[in-house]
Amino acid sequence: MSFKKYYQHFLKAHGDVLHMACHSHHFWPDVTRQATLDYWDDSAKHSDQKWGIIFGEKIPKLQSHIAKTLKIDKAENIVFAPNTHDLLIRLLSTLPTKRKPRILTTDGEFHSFSRQINKLVEEDLIEITKVSSFPSNSFWSSFEDALNEKNFDMIFISQIFYNSGTSIDDLERIVKLADKHGKIIIDGYHSYFTRPLDLSKIQNKIYFMSGHYKYAQGGEGLCFMTCPDDGANPVITGWFAEFEALSSKTGEVTYPTHAGRYLGSTMDFTPLYRSLSVYDLFEKEGITLDVIRSHILKLQKKFLEIIKEVNHTEINEKSLIQDESQERGQFLAFKLESTQACQDLEQGLRSIGILTDSRANILRFGFSLYQDELDFERLRRIKDL
Ligand SMILES: Cc1ncc(COP(=O)(O)O)c(C=O)c1O
Repeated sequence: MSFKKYYQHFLKAHGDVLHMACHSHHFWPDVTRQATLDYWDDSAKHSDQKWGIIFGEKIPKLQSHIAKTLKIDKAENIVFAPNTHDLLIRLLSTLPTKRKPRILTTDGEFHSFSRQINKLVEEDLIEITKVSSFPSNSFWSSFEDALNEKNFDMIFISQIFYNSGTSIDDLERIVKLADKHGKIIIDGYHSYFTRPLDLSKIQNKIYFMSGHYKYAQGGEGLCFMTCPDDGANPVITGWFAEFEALSSKTGEVTYPTHAGRYLGSTMDFTPLYRSLSVYDLFEKEGITLDVIRSHILKLQKKFLEIIKEVNHTEINEKSLIQDESQERGQFLAFKLESTQACQDLEQGLRSIGILTDSRANILRFGFSLYQDELDFERLRRIKDL
């Protein structure tokens, strides 16, 4: 089955180019165009009163879609921000201030986290322990050893690593190992909406962060985090966290009892309308996460068959990072000899109408509903690159 009909605007705008950078920036389904206009119309029609619609109808609706997607019981324990960095800052502001907080993480985290944390280390404000992320064989043992060595205030780890596309399939194992430590944050930006996920058993243990820019297809500006009932009073919040503020442990600044305690302040809610329109479309059309996953696996299989046949000197089975023993992310990553080789090939691919991207010496190919197996035939031309 082809799903291209839902993406006519973006597909047309790209002409004959095959978009394989969907792991960075997914195309938006056509319904998001009307949703953008709906936000404009609601703003015109309701002006100051639009907030009642946003907070009273739209946000609860989105919370319920996300809760359903992740199998979370309490939809009110999902909080929004324009990007994950904002959410991170609020989480960091719950760390102890009377001593240096200790954070355990990996060397494969996206810049939103790693850059911020590197600066905090540079300023001697936190202590960090980094273990090697997948595909390192030693991930689990290094992670466990680090946890046994000291007590951490925060553990921050991606479910699927942005550079290698390798996956920590077993989040429950992370929780089991780190249970006696502080907050466990899962960066789920590369896993959310790529496969069925079930957080029901660990929903009260982890903070799961993601957004709609990638696989959830609603565009930029709307990220979210699921929260346990942590009763935390983050130091950095915005005035939206004052809505329904009922509980406070100390002082006069009060907080809601749910995840609204991590809210910021005024933001553009166009992406909320866009994202809702995508969830609604998929629900209406029966495009479930199982449907998405099976389409993606079919595409990846075809792609790899062609790669095997062509046997290019650099893009081949040997340079593919993810092996079959692990669940792969929604993109495939090839480790090349150098960053330069990667950039050259990226350019070369562009010349044969394939748009992809790279991170250092890793070339990434993303898969999406708006591709069909036949699209990959042009890949055979890489033998000339
Ligand atoms: C793993 C991961 N986390 C987070 C982000 C986005 O971070 P932010 O929302 O802070 O821009 C990305 C974007 O590419 C990512 O790959």
